[in-house]
Amino acid sequence: MQLKNKIITGFSKLTRDEKIREILMHTKAENAKVFNHFQASDLQFQETFNNFSENTISNFHLPYSIAPNFLINGKQYMVPMVIEESSVVAAAASAAKFWFMHGGFHTRVKSMIKSGQVYFTYSGNKNNLLENFDTIKEHLYNETHALTENMRKRGGGINKISLHEIGLADHAVWKLDVSFLTGDSMGANFINTCLEKMASSLLNMPMHFGSFKDEEIDIIMAILSNYLPECLVEVSVSCPVDSLKVISGNLSSTQFAEKYKLAVDISHQDVSRAVTHNKGIMNGIDAVVLATGNDFRAIEAGIHAYAAKDGMYRGLSEVVIEKNVFTYQLTVPLSLGTVGGLTSLHKLAAETLHILGNPSAEELMQIVAAAGLANNFSALKALTTNGIQAGHMKMHLTNILLSLNATPTEMKKAKSHFKTDTVSYGKVSDYLTKLRANH
Ligand code: MEV
Repeated sequence: MQLKNKIITGFSKLTRDEKIREILMHTKAENAKVFNHFQASDLQFQETFNNFSENTISNFHLPYSIAPNFLINGKQYMVPMVIEESSVVAAAASAAKFWFMHGGFHTRVKSMIKSGQVYFTYSGNKNNLLENFDTIKEHLYNETHALTENMRKRGGGINKISLHEIGLADHAVWKLDVSFLTGDSMGANFINTCLEKMASSLLNMPMHFGSFKDEEIDIIMAILSNYLPECLVEVSVSCPVDSLKVISGNLSSTQFAEKYKLAVDISHQDVSRAVTHNKGIMNGIDAVVLATGNDFRAIEAGIHAYAAKDGMYRGLSEVVIEKNVFTYQLTVPLSLGTVGGLTSLHKLAAETLHILGNPSAEELMQIVAAAGLANNFSALKALTTNGIQAGHMKMHLTNILLSLNATPTEMKKAKSHFKTDTVSYGKVSDYLTKLRANH
């Protein structure tokens, strides 16, 4: 039966079984077993999962894989990655192994400043606001003193408060721009709590400062920003051009380095390529971010905005070839936590952090950035030599074979056959049909 454009009420109050019954009754869903199949057998474990979100009826599984051999600032890591796309982990692992043999990834966190804003309208005298801002600021620091106490003990807290007028026609809109340091937590709750406190303090300001009138100030919103151009990590790899020979296919190492640089430079000037180039970086970044239980949507939004920071969306990595040395580098904003959020509640995320040696947020930024550069490197290497499909199709073949219920023997035969034949669903399906008919 189809849904009938009628609001469903009380869905959240139903039990899980009742919810599934409703879904089966009103949608084209036909397989209740699949929802049960992905439930955890450990009830307490499942209960934790149910509490992460609302109206939960099952868990959505993704592969949890390991890319070994990441050497970052001289320290070796096995890097967990959560991703469904064939070849991403293989690509990360292969780049990590190559760069392991050439000194590994060199990373540096430039700064870890996060920010949030309180947007408000102020219809009073602009000079009144500007001239009193130092006093207002002092007042806001005092008002949030108790909220920031614990964070200050951990070296964080409010870093800076500034005031800016926003040019909106017909409205005198202002923003309070607040910078934060949040230690090893991503800090979303901390930041938003502080901002909301500041917003209510601004509203109450007339009580404290005689020259402001109640009706002159109204709060529009208070929220952290996912744009984090001051929460940056840089990562680079570098080797003599000659060392690229082992991966340069039919090209000489110099031809490869130059072609590679050209391919990367294209992403700085052409948005069609820039987006895909950065998608390759995000393959590595998102996979590690997900494995740690961090907020990958925040990371995505922040990185893409950073890629467009000068008004044009550009590829984020860069090649420098100087004195016969090939250097590949990437700078990205990353706001990550190794405490709080899901990082300990989600048992697999907690285990990821253990595998990574219980890193600080600063160390995790460096690991994640290295994974981004690793995936980007492998993608560009493939694109400028054999093309991307050779590697993709090898992994894709396994998925097609699995979807066609191939036995281990059939898998082996098909993999050997498709070493020299192009992979497509139709071809693999025909091959299996023939194979099965011959038996
Ligand atoms: C596929 O997931 C990622 C690539 O398209 C990235 C790129 O083109 O650089 C291969």
